[in-house]
Amino acid sequence: MKQFVAEASFGAMPNNLRVTETLNPQHSSSGFLTDVMKGLAATPKQLPPKHFYDRHGSELFDAICRLPEYYPTRTEMGLLHAHAADIARLAGPAAHVIEFGSGATIKVQILLNALDMPASYVGVDISRDYLIQAAQALAYEYPHMPVVAVCADFTRKFRMPTLPGRGPRLGFFPGSTIGNLLPEEAGQFLRHAAEVLGRGGAMVVGVDLQKDPEILNAAYNDAQGITAAFNLNLLRRINAELGGTFDLRQFAHDAFCNHAAGRIEMHLRSLVDQEVRVRERAFAFKAGETIHTENSHKYTVAQFQELAREAGFRPLRAWVDTEHLFSVHYLTVPR
Ligand code: AVI
Repeated sequence: MKQFVAEASFGAMPNNLRVTETLNPQHSSSGFLTDVMKGLAATPKQLPPKHFYDRHGSELFDAICRLPEYYPTRTEMGLLHAHAADIARLAGPAAHVIEFGSGATIKVQILLNALDMPASYVGVDISRDYLIQAAQALAYEYPHMPVVAVCADFTRKFRMPTLPGRGPRLGFFPGSTIGNLLPEEAGQFLRHAAEVLGRGGAMVVGVDLQKDPEILNAAYNDAQGITAAFNLNLLRRINAELGGTFDLRQFAHDAFCNHAAGRIEMHLRSLVDQEVRVRERAFAFKAGETIHTENSHKYTVAQFQELAREAGFRPLRAWVDTEHLFSVHYLTVPR
């Protein structure tokens, strides 16, 4: 796997920032092409949610996080603020913080500010430009801490950079992104994370809780239509990057609770019978047919702890807000 140095287009790089790539830019767009061709040919049609996060999609997701209906972000931030000192005590000094799917890095700063002399920060994300920009800002904010941006798909095995010093590793996987994986994929991811963290390592995971479907439906069908724009952005991205011919006015955002599977599902519903082309290949849609774009699984504390245990972690703490909306788990990798 090649390593690349960040390009000049991001401006001056702070001295404490290193960028490594386990995907090059071509690789990431061909992964998108493969997934789109395969997903649109499948029955039922589906696309993996990781492709939501181009630059515009990442910005729309940040806007979702500020919506009044979208409780997970503010609730998790509240829990992190309330328990950052507990986390710091459990993690100990000189921890290397490794964030999976690093996004805007706002939440991790709550941890970094509480931890005793964090040894380094490693952010792993598939959204390259966004990752580099966020890592750059973080490196300026913490000038004495080495920051490494790893452009990689964290749902697959990726190469970890060599870290300075031998402090413990503390994984961070906030936002209930784990809910976007099927339970078996979540188990696989946790097993891989446990390997990356090593014996004696630990992990802080944010997990959305099972709750009243009315609260869930409102969170994924917001009044301003930002979640709809986020979902439809996937089609705009196919048009822009893969020469697709999707007419966004002929598709509608659809999000609903699948009670049996314990999750919210997001789909894009075709409003008419239509044919769409991507790279000269035609895909037929019946009116009402959908592309399944995301699952967002919700767990009870006990269900998630069981999943973590099966993946080799020992659940040590679970913090839940007073309204029982969201949970933050502290898991350890036994020595
Ligand atoms: C990133 N992920 C945890 C979000 C979720 O709630 O599943 C993505 C999202 N989809 C719609 N709104 C937010």
